[in-house]
Amino acid sequence: MSESILKLSGVQKRFGGLQAVYPLDIDVAPHSIHALIGPNGAGKTTTVNMITGVYKVSGGTIEFDGKDITNMKTYKIARLGIGRTFQNIKVFPNMTLLENIMVGGHQLTKIGLVRGIFDLKGTVAEENMLREKAESLLDLLGMYDVRDHLMKNLPYGRQKISEIARAMMTDPKLILLDEPAAGLNPSERAELINVIRKAYNNGYTFFLIEHNMDVVMTLSDDITVLSFGKKIAAGKPKEIRNNDEVITAYLGRAYAKS
Ligand SMILES: Nc1ncnc2c1ncn2[C@@H]1O[C@H](COP(=O)(O)OP(=O)(O)OP(=O)(O)O)[C@@H](O)[C@H]1O
Ligand SMILES: [Mg+2]
Repeated sequence: MSESILKLSGVQKRFGGLQAVYPLDIDVAPHSIHALIGPNGAGKTTTVNMITGVYKVSGGTIEFDGKDITNMKTYKIARLGIGRTFQNIKVFPNMTLLENIMVGGHQLTKIGLVRGIFDLKGTVAEENMLREKAESLLDLLGMYDVRDHLMKNLPYGRQKISEIARAMMTDPKLILLDEPAAGLNPSERAELINVIRKAYNNGYTFFLIEHNMDVVMTLSDDITVLSFGKKIAAGKPKEIRNNDEVITAYLGRAYAKS
């Protein structure tokens, strides 16, 4: 029995001659916010891509919710309950916010072309279910009032935050966020922190890649630090902030506080 919701054991990735991630152990505690931080090129996105099955691992095992998911197909991993957002924004600019969120649930329902044509009633019911779910998520996250706005007309921060709501549509047991605060201004960052906290309080668990240390230090229960593909530290925010190796490799002195 594993006590982690997500457990990486000796997970590594080589791209030809480049060792992007050296054998890496990470334990994500159930109902926690676990951050993965480190300089550019450290291997953070590569790690997320191995967890989600986008990349095959070059070695090691990944367990999720007690199951071995190493090198499983992406859609199977998603179905088991891992959601994600991407480092680069992926929204539909000419659809409304609500429609963008609903898209996140389509893998839930069985709406396919054939079903859509021959079972209109079922499709309408599913569509209504998705709509209600999306509306309740937008309400929870404080964006219900702008649900009918076209995505492209919303501020960038809210477009990015909406990707978290979209990922929540399938009620994943774990959501991986790849740099959710990138490009956000301070008030948008405050909204992001709020949104992640609300989702957390509603039972969601997060694995968070982020460069903004206010976001990381405010939200995280546990932090793993990668540098040049190697884990150089793991611990509580206070420990990480004061870890000399982390300060030298990444943080600088400004974040050292007791
Ligand atoms: N598909 C790929 N093929 C070859 N090399 C890759 C591939 N993906 C990533 N890399 C290399 O692996 C290393 C780790 O990259 P990765 O994107 O995981 O870093 P990161 O920690 O997410 O950085 P950033 O903070 O800039 O997003 C880099 O040297 C990168 O160039
Ligand atoms: Mg990255």
